[in-house]
Amino acid sequence: MPKTGSTAPPAAAPKKNTASRARSARPKPAPASDRNSAKPAAAAPSRNSAKPSAAAPSGSALEIKDTRTSKTYSIPVAEGAIRANDLKKIKTDNPDDTGLMSYDPAFMNTASCRSAITYIDGDKGILRYRGYPIEQLAENATFLEVAWLLRHGELPTQQEYDQFVHDITFHTYVHENMRKFLEGFRYDAHPMAILNSSIAGLASFYPSARNIFDETERNISIIRLLAKTPTIAAFSYRHVKGLPFVYPDNRLSYVENFLSMVARMSESKYEANPVFARALEILFILHADHEQNCSTSAVRGVGSSHVDPFSAVSAGVAALFGPLHGGANEQVLRMIKDIGSVKNVPKFIESVKTGEGGRLMGFGHRVYKSYDPRAKIVKKLADEVFNVVGVDKDLEIALELERIALADDYFVSRKLYPNVDFYTGLIYRSMAFPMDFFTVLFAIGRMPGWLAQWEEMLLDKEQKISRPRQIYIGEGERGYRSRLTKS
Ligand code: CMC
Repeated sequence: MPKTGSTAPPAAAPKKNTASRARSARPKPAPASDRNSAKPAAAAPSRNSAKPSAAAPSGSALEIKDTRTSKTYSIPVAEGAIRANDLKKIKTDNPDDTGLMSYDPAFMNTASCRSAITYIDGDKGILRYRGYPIEQLAENATFLEVAWLLRHGELPTQQEYDQFVHDITFHTYVHENMRKFLEGFRYDAHPMAILNSSIAGLASFYPSARNIFDETERNISIIRLLAKTPTIAAFSYRHVKGLPFVYPDNRLSYVENFLSMVARMSESKYEANPVFARALEILFILHADHEQNCSTSAVRGVGSSHVDPFSAVSAGVAALFGPLHGGANEQVLRMIKDIGSVKNVPKFIESVKTGEGGRLMGFGHRVYKSYDPRAKIVKKLADEVFNVVGVDKDLEIALELERIALADDYFVSRKLYPNVDFYTGLIYRSMAFPMDFFTVLFAIGRMPGWLAQWEEMLLDKEQKISRPRQIYIGEGERGYRSRLTKS
């Protein structure tokens, strides 16, 4: 049975500031000398983001010879990386030359931060939150335990956990004006569009959240985002369905309360199917963080302007909406529906290989070049859920897609394996969630990761406003000559 049953809020636990590790003062920017000189900051022990095996001993350097000038340079190597800023000292004699840049569209090989939150080894299929293997967390932890862990770096004690659950539980209500705002959306609005704009809209209700270097403000914003996201998500579901909103029930656990707000009709107390409740809790845990993915980078990038967390996190929701990211779970189901039958799978796979059929959604990953460890857990979970609801033809199509793709050289040679989104949609659908709601479920799960990464970014003295450079390839200077037809 899930631990969720034990998450009832304690009667009168003392209020405690849960952001004890956070700084109260605005961090000072790194001194200019740190930003521009070729000297690296002292190498810190490699814990997570760089592969330990890739870390070079301190004092290691990369010797570079610039054939344009015949000069050689020594670029320090630390934690398996050089600092791109160190390349700036590599210049020609041209006075306009501002120094060498690295060009890396889509950040294929650029670390944007040092992070202690999530470790991934894509070749070995390893995913750990704060050092804990995802398999162990999925098996044993609750989602709120994981949310605490991601932010604070350690699992909560009983007292910390009880207080955290209490704080979350008692912030699940949204302002009645938010309810009116939600009612303004069209009946066929995509729930991710609703979620995105509503989370951004929360900033208007909590103007003091802009004090992001005040630890108390940061703490309450984080609690509010974790607590209210399921409420907004459930309200968006009910709105699209034309059903009355169900208010939060503080007697229920986080996941059960969410299911109650989604599905409750006239019952005095909603009782979730325990298999579904635990499955959803595990899926939230699997989605809770995934280091510097597209949406997390969006949260960090937008947050680096020092905007409030509601605005920063809404950027993450927007990024997640895309079909190459969190939107893939919805697309997997649409793809399966289009395939229609197991006998059509070989033809569909051929069309993917020629490019005519688009991509095999739910396959491939920028980081994992072996089976996504989350996908393994999801596949097992799907078995458990389908034991309750019965196997349907869509699962059979998915299994056949996987079987054929994993034996096909096109996918094998490109190291394309099922990712977390391949089977999640099937589970969500078996719980009767509509397809366009799947990515909303992903967003609820990812919220603790976005928030932990946002706070880590804010408190990282090396971070500044995100501002990539470019290689300009446009026109040179030219004089204005209108092309409008004047009457
Ligand atoms: N189906 C068919 N071919 C693929 C696929 C796929 N799903 N994914 C990659 N490829 C091919 C791609 O055409 C390319 O082939 P070639 O070398 O001949 O040009 C090669 O594999 C490398 O692809 P890429 O686009 O350079 O790889 P990427 O790291 O930029 O893209 C990805 C990663 C996840 C966007 C991509 O694999 C994809 O589009 N997958 C389908 C969408 C999907 O399932 N997304 C969910 C990702 S996991 C959850 C999350 O983090 O959001």
